[in-house]
Amino acid sequence: MPQSVVVITGAGSGIGQALASHYASRDQPVMAIGRREAPLRELADNYPMVRAVPADVATDAGQSAIIEALDDRSVAALVHNAGVLEPVGPLLDQSAEAFRSHLAINLEAPIALSRALRPRMDTDGRVLHVSSGAAHRAMPGWGAYCISKAALHMAYQVLKTELAGQAIHIGSLRPGVVDTPMQALIRSQTVADFPAVENFRALKANDALTSPAQVATFMAAVLALPGERFSEQEWDIREHWDEVVGQ
Ligand SMILES: NC(=O)c1ccc[n+]([C@@H]2O[C@H](COP(=O)([O-])OP(=O)(O)OC[C@H]3O[C@@H](n4cnc5c(N)ncnc54)[C@H](OP(=O)(O)O)[C@@H]3O)[C@@H](O)[C@H]2O)c1
Repeated sequence: MPQSVVVITGAGSGIGQALASHYASRDQPVMAIGRREAPLRELADNYPMVRAVPADVATDAGQSAIIEALDDRSVAALVHNAGVLEPVGPLLDQSAEAFRSHLAINLEAPIALSRALRPRMDTDGRVLHVSSGAAHRAMPGWGAYCISKAALHMAYQVLKTELAGQAIHIGSLRPGVVDTPMQALIRSQTVADFPAVENFRALKANDALTSPAQVATFMAAVLALPGERFSEQEWDIREHWDEVVGQ
């Protein structure tokens, strides 16, 4: 039997790329998913354990490509890391199309992919939602993002009850403020569109961002927790690092 894979969406940059490298450098096969092919190819060139699968998780074609790429392998873990911030700006100023497209990536795709890959999951397999502080706090200018992450958190809570006692486990994790392209995009916003932008610029100026590699260490430790513990709460890197990774 081929070794089970860890499926990571949004693996071409930031947190997803760091998690893919973390596993691949430990001889764990990884399926790395994203829309842009070049960064996935680079990852696969650096790590033979990585299989690059260019796919848009928000489309039926993308989801089919992921299933097809699995061949006969099963899935040890499915990490719903792909996400977008935009549209940024007052919620009622955003077009219906931009809002729908955001929800399709951040909310619908994780649920659809979990549904599609469920029959391929290992017994005791893990599904992880990448959450955010924005799931729990209203941020002016981040309407779409706050709404999609809050709904994704609720999806985790619903699935936690529905899957209790079953063979797969659902989890949720908050990575903190991480030094990734998404943070660069946040810092590039205008005050009019995102009033809290200066706070994020100050965090970067003060070197206060968490590195993607640190988040990958935390994520892998959370994914390795026993199933019921993995599911019991949303794991926040700022609160639970010592408990999960150790002192
Ligand atoms: N950075 C932070 O401070 C922070 C804080 C809390 C939560 N998060 C969450 O962490 C996750 C990773 O973000 P990041 O900070 O690492 O940002 P990032 O570097 O922008 O990573 C997001 C990744 O998602 C991929 N992606 C976006 N839409 C996709 C789609 N439709 N299909 C497939 N892949 C798609 C992007 O690649 P392509 O464009 O090539 O598809 C990109 O590689 C996100 O869910 C984000 O909300 C980040």
